[in-house]
Amino acid sequence: MHCASSIPTQCGPAPLARKEIDRRLEDCPLLPSLSSINRALQGLLFAEQRYSAQISEIIRRDPSLTSRLLRLVNSVYYGLSAPVNSIEEAVFYLGVRQIRQLTMVTPIIEDFQRLSLQCDFPWRGFWQHCIGTAIVTREVVSLVQAPPDESDYIAGLVHDVGKIVMAWSFPDHFAEIHRRASLGTQDLAALEAEILGMDHAELGAIYLERQHLPDLMVQSARFHHRPQSSKKYEWIIASVQIADLLMRNARIGYSGNFIEVSREECVTASGWEVLFPERAASEQAIARASLNRCLERLPHVLEGLV
Ligand SMILES: [Fe+2]
Ligand SMILES: [Fe+2]
Repeated sequence: MHCASSIPTQCGPAPLARKEIDRRLEDCPLLPSLSSINRALQGLLFAEQRYSAQISEIIRRDPSLTSRLLRLVNSVYYGLSAPVNSIEEAVFYLGVRQIRQLTMVTPIIEDFQRLSLQCDFPWRGFWQHCIGTAIVTREVVSLVQAPPDESDYIAGLVHDVGKIVMAWSFPDHFAEIHRRASLGTQDLAALEAEILGMDHAELGAIYLERQHLPDLMVQSARFHHRPQSSKKYEWIIASVQIADLLMRNARIGYSGNFIEVSREECVTASGWEVLFPERAASEQAIARASLNRCLERLPHVLEGLV
């Protein structure tokens, strides 16, 4: 099932009715990491530096996490004279917060990767888009208040899960959508609605709902392009929207959307209204300056992660 080659260029696949979309979603594999992740990390959630030995022990049991961690620390601290080879050292350099994020990302990305094998697509760039959006979401949320747990990060990470689900369950439609998207004339969500009959935001939300995943994940997928319509978790979803736009504007990673995002669109995103309803434009400008610093470092961080 190699989608790029199986599509006639003249007449693509026909849009599907909701019933058929639901039927095909039933066959889409579950992502076990998403449901177990919150539970598994509960014990570490409020860990401070003194728990780093315990964290190292947990990481050591997971070879894929270990290699990812060492790659990350060596790429973030590329100026170090000698490469970091031990987990303790890596934990020391990166700090507990970044390690916690990494332990959460790894199984989710591996699950995602299993799902995405079906289809030609620049997946590595796409993982960078997802993880980068998660990291920037955390930064945006922190402008308003200290995040109480990691749920904002997860909300950013899964915002575009609908695209992975689409590649798996609707490979022909997915290929046609991305052929047309690469022409750069139409917005991705509009193309998805036209070609499949549903966009990635709604598809991702339905998929996460079916798996009984936390409501925040579902709503983040559904409303990340229009946080002002969400009735719940508005400020987290607003942060996801801003993070997503900033990633696309900075051209970090690959979202699958070829329509460029201007600086102006980042500045006027509806999410800012949700985050700072009464505050002056000058405060928003200060907030944006601190986000720019995060974006500058991001390509190095992502190189080490995926
Ligand atoms: Fe999206
Ligand atoms: Fe996105």
